[in-house]
Amino acid sequence: MEPICKLLLYVTLLLLPNSILSSPECNFPAVFNFGDSSSDTGALLSMFGQPAAPPPNGETFFHSPAGRVCEGRLLIDFIGLGVLYLSAFLDSMGTNFTRGANYAIVGSTIRRQNTTIFQSGYSPISLDIQYAQFSNFLKRSQIIRQKGGVFKNLFPEEYTFSSALYTFDIGHNDLTAGYQLNMSTEQVKAYIPDVISEFTTTIKVITAAQVDKHGCAAPFNDVSRYFNLKLKEAIIQLRKDLHLAAITYVDMYSVKYSLIAQSKKLRFGDPFLVCCGHGGKYNFNIAMRCGWTKMVNGTKIVVAKSCIADHLGRDSLYRGG
Ligand SMILES: *[C@@H]1O[C@H](CO)[C@@H](O)[C@H](O)[C@H]1NC(C)=O
Ligand SMILES: *[C@@H]1O[C@H](CO)[C@@H](O)[C@H](O)[C@H]1NC(C)=O
Ligand SMILES: *[C@@H]1O[C@H](CO)[C@@H](O)[C@H](O)[C@H]1NC(C)=O
Ligand SMILES: *[C@@H]1O[C@H](CO)[C@@H](O)[C@H](O)[C@H]1NC(C)=O
Repeated sequence: MEPICKLLLYVTLLLLPNSILSSPECNFPAVFNFGDSSSDTGALLSMFGQPAAPPPNGETFFHSPAGRVCEGRLLIDFIGLGVLYLSAFLDSMGTNFTRGANYAIVGSTIRRQNTTIFQSGYSPISLDIQYAQFSNFLKRSQIIRQKGGVFKNLFPEEYTFSSALYTFDIGHNDLTAGYQLNMSTEQVKAYIPDVISEFTTTIKVITAAQVDKHGCAAPFNDVSRYFNLKLKEAIIQLRKDLHLAAITYVDMYSVKYSLIAQSKKLRFGDPFLVCCGHGGKYNFNIAMRCGWTKMVNGTKIVVAKSCIADHLGRDSLYRGG
């Protein structure tokens, strides 16, 4: 399959949130890693049993096979967390995901391969599947944490997803896969743009996936809550400065957030769809806002219509956009 401890990292990317880059220390609450054998900490072993990483793997540091195709530790074992080793997401025994999860698996590629692992050695868990697993983890970990007890101490807190370190160490298998199919160097070069494009697509969805359990964008809502905290402090000061004035603080953020969080219970439809708009995931396009019209064969038609017309007011309360 692959030589032990391959140190050539074709694609190594660290995604650092701006807030972290500007802070003097690197205190990441968690690490989420995606990749291949260069950073697999036990996924292949969990799926296929000991033949996946038999002795002498693990001999120098762990003194027995430790799920890594390496005699000691991998680069990922030294990143960020110091004493704690990242659990493989696919490992169902003894794992603790409070400080992150590792989706990397031996033989993984960015693009899906058209062979089985038994034919070629390439893993069916390509980068897009690793993302699917992460996305599932993001949602289910929060539901499981709510059970309390030990579960609370095995899964990360919600805020960690938006301030975690995301690492990607994948790509070289995409190149060797072509050669295994007897492609020429020219042919391998020719598909590289496709591999890169698949890579950037997945990075974009992973970073866009930083939503909370209700589907709201966690980093932006963090900013809103921080703003409100500062606003409250300013209002306390204003009350002191203007003691003849009565100043009332109303937390609109919590009101609106609870409408979205409880949209099912309150019998609203999809809380993320703008009532009056057109196009896209949220029925919103800045260039085609409420009431936007276009000319079709000399007749003006309204493209961005209101949902009230469709639903006779039934769903209209929250759908103001
Ligand atoms: C797999 O097969 C499909 C259909 O022929 C092709 O579009 C795709 O590029 C192939 N994938 C790889 C990694 O070769
Ligand atoms: C999981 O790891 C975290 C961080 O090291 C620790 O605080 C927590 O107690 C562990 N959970 C369990 C159930 O041991
Ligand atoms: C590639 O070429 C080798 C040597 O000619 C041959 O044994 C092998 O079957 C070929 N592989 C494919 C996928 O065509
Ligand atoms: C506009 O007129 C053309 C020519 O008569 C016709 O083919 C087309 O379907 C019309 N478009 C619409 C949206 O009605």
